[in-house]
Amino acid sequence: MKPLIVSFFAAIASSASAYSDPYNHIWIAPGPDDQRSPCPGLNTLANHGYLPRSGQNFTIPDIMDAALEAFNLNWDTILIAAKFGLLTQNNVESELTMSLGPLSLHNAVEHDASLSRNDFGDGTGDNVHFNETVFATLANANPGVDFYNASSAAAVQFARLADSIATNPRIVNTQKEFVLRSRESGLYLSIFGNPLTGIAPKNFVQIFFREERLPIEEGWTKPTTLITSDTLAPIETIVRAESNWTATTTCGPLVLAPGLTVNQAKLAL
Ligand code: HEM
Ligand SMILES: *[C@@H]1O[C@H](CO)[C@@H](O)[C@H](O)[C@H]1NC(C)=O
Ligand SMILES: *[C@@H]1O[C@H](CO)[C@@H](O)[C@H](O)[C@H]1NC(C)=O
Ligand SMILES: *[C@@H]1O[C@H](CO)[C@@H](O)[C@H](O)[C@H]1NC(C)=O
Ligand SMILES: *[C@@H]1O[C@H](CO)[C@@H](O)[C@H](O)[C@H]1NC(C)=O
Repeated sequence: MKPLIVSFFAAIASSASAYSDPYNHIWIAPGPDDQRSPCPGLNTLANHGYLPRSGQNFTIPDIMDAALEAFNLNWDTILIAAKFGLLTQNNVESELTMSLGPLSLHNAVEHDASLSRNDFGDGTGDNVHFNETVFATLANANPGVDFYNASSAAAVQFARLADSIATNPRIVNTQKEFVLRSRESGLYLSIFGNPLTGIAPKNFVQIFFREERLPIEEGWTKPTTLITSDTLAPIETIVRAESNWTATTTCGPLVLAPGLTVNQAKLAL
């Protein structure tokens, strides 16, 4: 009896892994009551059940655990974004949880000149959902080869910003947005490619943006290198340099209380 049961469960386990889910976190499209955000990273975590599939009521440590388990992504790369995420929430029940819907609050983390979403603009633009027309710039980047890299990511950032400057009179384009956008480029190159080179197969990146799915069936595996601010730094340095960025709008300077100093490394994400 016992060997039979063992082989029965072994057969289930091996057939499951032979199909598509070695990580035991299957992809399920969100239902009508589930919340999603403008962030393909967090949406993917929810679609695979690393975050609640409802997209609701999770904490910063929940995000950190999910990012590590799903992407081998270290907390230091996303902690500031996560803290800003809490500020977008309007919940009195718990000041320590957040949900995906409110993350679309314009100019908190959500910003103009995105890779796959329209600008908020005058409030009529859909800044939440994936848009293939917007994504075409990235989809068609680095022609002639089957991978994206820091140079192509830089060119995409340049082109998306130029489009927003040309079409959105309300564009917000300060150092803050530039830091966020460069981090987002570093993240898709590292998670879906080699975190040490920033070279990422186009197919993996496109499935991530279009379907908010881990491209496991297509051959992607979780990076074996832990992605940290240190591994992102050389990739983002190229992205920043080659995107020829300049601020076109400004925000007021942070004024420090006397005697306080700013930890620049932390401020720069
Ligand atoms: C878990 C790892 C994460 C990954 C892989 C990731 C990845 C990305 C990427 C690639 C984008 C760019 C989307 C685009 O330009 O179309 C993005 C945007 C965004 N992310 Fe994340 N992110 C992560 C964590 C977070 C966290 C912790 C927050 C805040 C709680 C956050 C909030 C956002 C928001 C609000 C946007 C929209 C920005 C925009 O307007 O384009 N993300 N993220
Ligand atoms: C999230 O928390 C809010 C406020 O407590 C509650 O109304 C809602 O039902 C919760 N959502 C889920 C999916 O548990
Ligand atoms: C997608 O974006 C394009 C370019 O901004 C816009 O013209 C189009 O209406 C958008 N599509 C949807 C379904 O929002
Ligand atoms: C990215 O790929 C393109 C096309 O092969 C190449 O010209 C460029 O030098 C690469 N950039 C980096 C940073 O490797
Ligand atoms: C950035 O500027 C350099 C020097 O003018 C130019 O060669 C390069 O093509 C520009 N990059 C982008 C993405 O426009």
